[in-house]
Amino acid sequence: MKSEKSKSTVKSSKSRSDTAVQGTNDLSTLSKCSMVKLGYFPDNFLHHFVAKQCRRSPLIHRGYHIRTYVIDYVLKEFLKRTSPERKMRQIISLGAGFDSAFFRLKSLGLTENCIFYEVDFPQVVKRKAKIIQQVPELKALIGDKSYANSVHCAELFQDDYRLLGVDLTQVKVLNDVFCQAGIDSSSPTLILSECVLTYLMPQHSDAVIHWAVKTFTKAVFIDYEQINPNTAFGIFMQKHFAKTGSPLKCINTYPSIQSHKERFLKLGWSFCECSDMTDVYINLISKEKRKELEQIELFDEFEEWHLKCCHYMILCAHEESTTPYLKFPIYSSSQNRTVSFPEEISSIIHNLQIPENQKSLLKRFGHSCILSFEKLLFIFGGFGKENGKYQRVSNIVISNLETLETVSLPVPTNLPKSHFAQMYQSISLSTDGSIILYAGRKSPQKASSAVTIVELNNLDEDSSKLVSGEIAKEKSDDMSCGIDFRLGCKSYRINCQQLETKGEAPSSRWRHSSAIYKKNDVPVMFIYGGRDQHNTALDDGFVLDLQTKQWTKVTFQGEIPNALHSHTCSIWKEQYLVLAGGLLQESVPSQHIYLLDVDSFFFKRLKISGTLYPRYSHTAHIIENHLFLIGGVNHLHFSAGVAVINLLTGFSQEFNLPVKDKTDEIQMLHGHQSILLNNGQLAIIGGGGNCFSFGTHLNNATLDQEYFFTESNVPLYTEDVLLTWSLVWQLLYLHV
Ligand SMILES: C[S@@+](CC[C@H](N)C(=O)[O-])C[C@H]1O[C@@H](n2cnc3c(N)ncnc32)[C@H](O)[C@@H]1O
Repeated sequence: MKSEKSKSTVKSSKSRSDTAVQGTNDLSTLSKCSMVKLGYFPDNFLHHFVAKQCRRSPLIHRGYHIRTYVIDYVLKEFLKRTSPERKMRQIISLGAGFDSAFFRLKSLGLTENCIFYEVDFPQVVKRKAKIIQQVPELKALIGDKSYANSVHCAELFQDDYRLLGVDLTQVKVLNDVFCQAGIDSSSPTLILSECVLTYLMPQHSDAVIHWAVKTFTKAVFIDYEQINPNTAFGIFMQKHFAKTGSPLKCINTYPSIQSHKERFLKLGWSFCECSDMTDVYINLISKEKRKELEQIELFDEFEEWHLKCCHYMILCAHEESTTPYLKFPIYSSSQNRTVSFPEEISSIIHNLQIPENQKSLLKRFGHSCILSFEKLLFIFGGFGKENGKYQRVSNIVISNLETLETVSLPVPTNLPKSHFAQMYQSISLSTDGSIILYAGRKSPQKASSAVTIVELNNLDEDSSKLVSGEIAKEKSDDMSCGIDFRLGCKSYRINCQQLETKGEAPSSRWRHSSAIYKKNDVPVMFIYGGRDQHNTALDDGFVLDLQTKQWTKVTFQGEIPNALHSHTCSIWKEQYLVLAGGLLQESVPSQHIYLLDVDSFFFKRLKISGTLYPRYSHTAHIIENHLFLIGGVNHLHFSAGVAVINLLTGFSQEFNLPVKDKTDEIQMLHGHQSILLNNGQLAIIGGGGNCFSFGTHLNNATLDQEYFFTESNVPLYTEDVLLTWSLVWQLLYLHV
């Protein structure tokens, strides 16, 4: 009795999980359909499988386009290369869902002498068969003759299209059904698993892979699925699938392209090749075609697009005899993306104890931050929660980093309410303590070129009757508008103004960099590069004299960098501007460091020795002669940590950072800001982004990282000794 009961519990939980997995088909069909509708990929049949279409984001379109493109490529290659033999060919799509490849390829006249077998759960194939029979256009392509009643598990059984309802975990049943369905073990056969095997337990998916190599003498196996579970993005991706009830069951057993290759070889395949989607996008799609695709929609989610591409792979396993059946798009660079990286120290991240009701003020990405007025942290713009809604944030947030008291101030009425609701604007601190915000964007179509000056003044204690955290009514006169507020034991007035500038002003932009330095005792702001409304990375530089308010375009000399955005610019010794990393126009992350002399505007590329990975969307700080690059995104298969570069010698080291904080929350180090505190600690503010179709991740409030570079430790690096994290940590430990 007891065992019967537990059997039924197991059964119902299996059927619940099967239903959830079947739901992944509906979601991917919806996303593919939206991508097709926008013109990324031609498919006249997919829309029949969707009851109600919806429009997905540009990032989701790009992700589904590259997936559809590469699978379409391998199917067409197989059909093209096996066609001269004039023998029967077979395509077996495992977990085919509502895929429309058969209809697309048949309508193009490419499926002569080819039988398409599609397998999925019985419930899914039933729904698919019903749709096909109801839509004349689809029905015409499968033909009239039907033998479905004579074959076990067949929902449709036509001359060249067979739809079979089998649970893939039952390999013996699968084999029997295929034998009955007339599969030929000696015909050239392509077996496809597009986002399917990962939903099976490793022992079940291994059994399918092994069955395929045992059964067919001339087979190629194509597997498209998720990899890299241990990066911040990978953990978020896994959480998403687990939440929807369809966990990725293979990703931790087979986490990398290397482990997938080893798996197929171990299970009996003779050859196996693998590429991640970054390589497929860059190498399989021509430059012209990529340009065309990138112009379909406005786009500004580079970080998550590159992360998504690093977390999906396509694999091709085959026997020697079948090599000519497929010219697989394999690019050796994918193998090099899994570089070894240093040991991680997990004890360095501490969450600041920010009051619960204020945490959401710091959760955002694409914002700008600066420390001014002793311990006051100013946060502007970015994407986060405001008035209970996720949107670009307009309020100005000021936080006392000592007491952690925080206020959120409305935009003063002398500026439009949306003035500060910008993404990727630059921020710099002028020599008098005022804050200069420059440019940024609302949408990728609406970039700004505004220069905004934010000033803070201490208020006379007698005139301020405010209590801590209180914001007074705005005071305005003819000249300016000020908002009074109190944080802790001090009261302040904030004034914000848009600066009227003269001269040759830069064009509107975002994802640029800025830095302020003194020239002949006058503060000047330098700006470089960025991105504009025409989808272009910029390579121009300007200086703004903050006294005369005059813009001047700079003429560079020396080793001038290519157009860049999402890079950093830091001032070194009041003499050099240090440009680091960034994303080049071709969407390639840069690993170059440039030194720009502020007198001659002569650029010099720093010769790097040691290890330095490319990155963009990172933050940068200079301590004495060392440049620290924090986080960022690249095409590698792990989350970027911290690079430490000696600006005198060019020697560089990379350190790995934990991807979770002590409360087990994921920390994504892109779209973030970081602030170097006087005590040598580094505060990381915000970060994260819209992670493909998995949802938005915003880092948990502020991190406080007790880095290895407290001032007393800086000399350690001047000797350019390669220190392991643990050694650095031990040394630091001795100091604190
Ligand atoms: C993400 S969808 C992919 C559908 C299709 N391959 C595509 O890429 O458009 C995953 C598909 O695998 C099917 N699937 C997952 N586990 C399965 C199993 N054990 N047996 C049969 N089908 C399965 C699901 O029903 C679903 O249709």
